[in-house]
Amino acid sequence: MTNAVEMHDIVVRFPGVLANDHVNFTLKTGEIHALLGENGAGKSTLMNVLAGLYQPTEGTIKVHGKPVSFNSPKDAIAAGIGMVHQHFMLVPTQTVTENILLGLDEPKFFLNLPKYDQKILELEEQFGLHVPPTAKIWQLSVGEQQRVELLKMLYRGADILILDEPTAVLAPQEIDELMSTLRSMAAQGKSIIFISHKLHEVTQIADRVTVLRKGKVTAEGIDAAGLTAEKLAQLMVGREVVFTVKKSDREPGDVVLDVQNVSAINDKGVPALRSVSLQVRSGEILGIAGVAGNGQSELAEVITGLRPCTGKITVNGVDVANRPPIVAINSGVAHIPEDRGKVGTAPNLTITENTIMKNYRYEPVGNGWSIDFSKARNFARQLKEKYDILAPSVRIPARKLSGGNLQKVILAREISANPQLMVAVQPTRGLDVGAIEAVQTLLLAQREAGAAILLISEELEELFSLSDRIAVIYEGKIMGIVPAKEANIHDIGLMMTGHAVNSEERVANSE
Ligand SMILES: Nc1ncnc2c1ncn2[C@@H]1O[C@H](COP(=O)(O)OP(=O)(O)OP(=O)(O)O)[C@@H](O)[C@H]1O
Ligand SMILES: [Mg+2]
Repeated sequence: MTNAVEMHDIVVRFPGVLANDHVNFTLKTGEIHALLGENGAGKSTLMNVLAGLYQPTEGTIKVHGKPVSFNSPKDAIAAGIGMVHQHFMLVPTQTVTENILLGLDEPKFFLNLPKYDQKILELEEQFGLHVPPTAKIWQLSVGEQQRVELLKMLYRGADILILDEPTAVLAPQEIDELMSTLRSMAAQGKSIIFISHKLHEVTQIADRVTVLRKGKVTAEGIDAAGLTAEKLAQLMVGREVVFTVKKSDREPGDVVLDVQNVSAINDKGVPALRSVSLQVRSGEILGIAGVAGNGQSELAEVITGLRPCTGKITVNGVDVANRPPIVAINSGVAHIPEDRGKVGTAPNLTITENTIMKNYRYEPVGNGWSIDFSKARNFARQLKEKYDILAPSVRIPARKLSGGNLQKVILAREISANPQLMVAVQPTRGLDVGAIEAVQTLLLAQREAGAAILLISEELEELFSLSDRIAVIYEGKIMGIVPAKEANIHDIGLMMTGHAVNSEERVANSE
């Protein structure tokens, strides 16, 4: 049997970076192959080559044993290769079916949409990818939109599927559904490449694993059976990684964040927060647990001045609700937003410009009138060093950074402002294991230094190891707040799906 894909000696250079350094990669027919590596290791680059987006300067590619050369994604699609990118490329105002048919040579499709709806339903049935064909994209959850991207590939007859960090944006239950879809696709002969930073997922789903480190292959197609997360971490990072950071015992200080009876509506006009009350003290981490879409994002937004609300929110006694974001910033609020590309950074500005967004008015970078760019660059270089941001220089635009390194730029900027209150939304999403360890250590150091931290995360393990108390949010309501030491995963899980747990926790909630 021939291999589905053979990539041989692939070299891709960007200014100042050798992103792929003579990479060999083989995908067997019908297998699930995980591609691993630290942030910036060259995973997305290699897959963009296979998907026809980048042309390598050296190297050859064979698909089903035949040499190919792709000048565009169209060529790759014609060869049966489909890639689902981290950022979806769907048209929000069109339906599922319209999006799937978009760009195909069937110009009269709109005359008989129901016929295509039916064809798509059959495809959904075949692979267990359920989403209503007549729904508009904007009405769908992120998980459902991802299914549309997959259906789009399958509809075009792709038999080699590339998924770049597909689970980073999914809730735990959606991850399980995706896993079973992937298994069913592989069982039906599809060959799948899967990029992920979640090592337990990899050990669960992959048949084989390839690891990249700084553009080079460090493990080529090794058997996944028997591999542990620890072993994988070591292959990626080149050293042992600690999976649970150590938290000191610390008495919390005064109340920094005080949220009282706050309600808000979401972008669709539906109530997203219903009379939420909570407090976070200095030197304390309050974790917010919840299934995605239960009001977490809106909670972060009302505190940081990005969304109107009713009720009262104060930071060190200063009213910040319904005020412009600058009021929260001046009260010492740092924000690590969920959406890094849009809210967190300005993609076309340099790393330097992105790191000084908060302090350009002040010494040493600015004096209120002008910015000293050489001091700004020095500041950015220090952060680049301290936070291990991988980039050839601080003068390159943020959009050229790998996903994980972009996140580090935001963290560096926000933490270096020595915040009183930190609102961290999914701070480790998309980071490699080494970087997760570093970020968690940084958050704990902020706690140690007396910052109050509101940590919103879908990673229960992360919440348990970092939080002092855990609040569960469900449909915009706080179901309970428990000290992390007394919390157990089972009860938190129940509360996350809307079940009240025993009365003690409700007492804890009402204190
Ligand atoms: N279009 C581009 N122009 C310049 N440099 C780029 C470009 N795309 C990627 N790079 C650089 O190439 C290197 C590899 O990036 P790549 O996106 O492939 O990493 P990755 O392994 O996918 O990382 P992550 O896990 O963070 O997504 C990085 O140093 C990145 O900054
Ligand atoms: Mg990537």
